[in-house]
Amino acid sequence: MDAVEYEMLRHTWFPVARVADLKNGVTSGSILGEELVVYGDGASVTVAEGFCPHRGVALRLGQVSDGALQCPYHGWLFEAGSGRCTRVPSLPPGRDRPHTALRTYPAEIAYGLVWSCLAAPFLPLPRLPGYVDESWQIGAGEPYTLNCGMRQLTENFRDRAHFPFVHGDTMGDVAQVVEPYRIARDGWRLGWTSSMGSEKMPEDLAEEFDHHLDYRLTLPMFASICVSSPSGGRRLVAQVTAPVSADGLRVRQFWLAGTDAVSAEQGAELADVLGYERQVFEEDHPIVENQRPIEAPMDLHSQVHTAADRFSITYRRVYAELLESYKAGRR
Ligand code: FES
Ligand SMILES: [Fe+2]
Repeated sequence: MDAVEYEMLRHTWFPVARVADLKNGVTSGSILGEELVVYGDGASVTVAEGFCPHRGVALRLGQVSDGALQCPYHGWLFEAGSGRCTRVPSLPPGRDRPHTALRTYPAEIAYGLVWSCLAAPFLPLPRLPGYVDESWQIGAGEPYTLNCGMRQLTENFRDRAHFPFVHGDTMGDVAQVVEPYRIARDGWRLGWTSSMGSEKMPEDLAEEFDHHLDYRLTLPMFASICVSSPSGGRRLVAQVTAPVSADGLRVRQFWLAGTDAVSAEQGAELADVLGYERQVFEEDHPIVENQRPIEAPMDLHSQVHTAADRFSITYRRVYAELLESYKAGRR
């Protein structure tokens, strides 16, 4: 990625961990090569630099004690929120502590994920579509680490033409022809709808063939698909990809699955939806890790497109606009 994209992504909210992965109150994450420690009680969390300022031990090996993060090596305590060092156990009483603090980053919890950004966010934290309210059940699947670019993976999730070739085992005999579709745009959000018949979705998820799909994407990378079945139940899967290496060629794929109240009443279990979507993603992974270039090229002339690729072309164009807008805001 170029220097402007790198800077823009430093100012972008990304998930760094699942709340469920806090062990002894601690877990780790990474954005653009910065290794981070996440600590807290799950209701509130702190995101900070990942290594102790004393002797550089990885703080993800520590634990939370009285709300503060304790380094596993010499037991220094770093308070929640500020990252300030509040105790150095080796000092005799009355001796001054070194004035030090962990560098902390903005931290938010949304959808069971801990989000952070390396520098002041230039866009708000992205949200699921408004129809996903408290009556929905939402679960965060186990994230994957992949060798591919953030935009490449985001395009894959939006790409309808690969379903019959990559997802035969999970989706069955999906039509190969992609009917023309129009993309609606609202600021940095894109959306479109399509329909899909499938014979292989598990029966408790979908008893009928004809499904209506609502695609949404909030740039740079928060994507969701809501599937409505003719019987009125809705299921959702969302993908949000975070660049974990500084060159952006290694990413962490966070994902959510959800069921609305109607589909829950009809017997859809969130665990089944998570299990099904996991299988779908695992079918995609050998594809997205074997594309060259590793990140989707911004130069539209360097690849060949068809009408079915309308989304990825629009995404690349709007992403270029986002970069321009970021650059303009910096001036
Ligand atoms: S290395 Fe962390 S307290 Fe010494
Ligand atoms: Fe796929």
